[in-house]
Amino acid sequence: MKLMIINGPNLNLLGKREPEVYGSTTFEDYFGQLKTKFPQVELSYFQSNIEGEIIGKIQEVGFDYDGIILNAAAYTHTSVGIGDAVKAVNAPVIEVHISNTHKREEYRHVSFISSGAKGVILGFGLQSYDLAIQSFLS
Ligand code: DQA
Repeated sequence: MKLMIINGPNLNLLGKREPEVYGSTTFEDYFGQLKTKFPQVELSYFQSNIEGEIIGKIQEVGFDYDGIILNAAAYTHTSVGIGDAVKAVNAPVIEVHISNTHKREEYRHVSFISSGAKGVILGFGLQSYDLAIQSFLS
């Protein structure tokens, strides 16, 4: 099973960025833990702060991989383009968020990703990614 995790803007700062919201673990460290926990999964990871690069990566892997785990971060709430890319590809996409966006500011309650996603997992901290992988395996 080949899965790609795609993280959007500012998620390269995990560990330092608002630790009270996003925790103090870097994504690189957490990604290592995921690879150890799921040796049967060919797991890849891509992060970009640039909308077009995220769209490019969804297009690149979306006809080849078995699934995409997408945290589009702030673009979740603004990007018709990323939402369209999710709908355009064959690979099922699980939308994840570290925080419970529905408990936060109103502008975070809207998602341009959800209507094209297979499912949405949010609010479980970094464990949201783990749960997404498990959902692909079940
Ligand atoms: C986030 C939630 C978004 O609203 C925010 O812009 C992020 C991270 C999350 O994982 O909780 O950057 O996607």
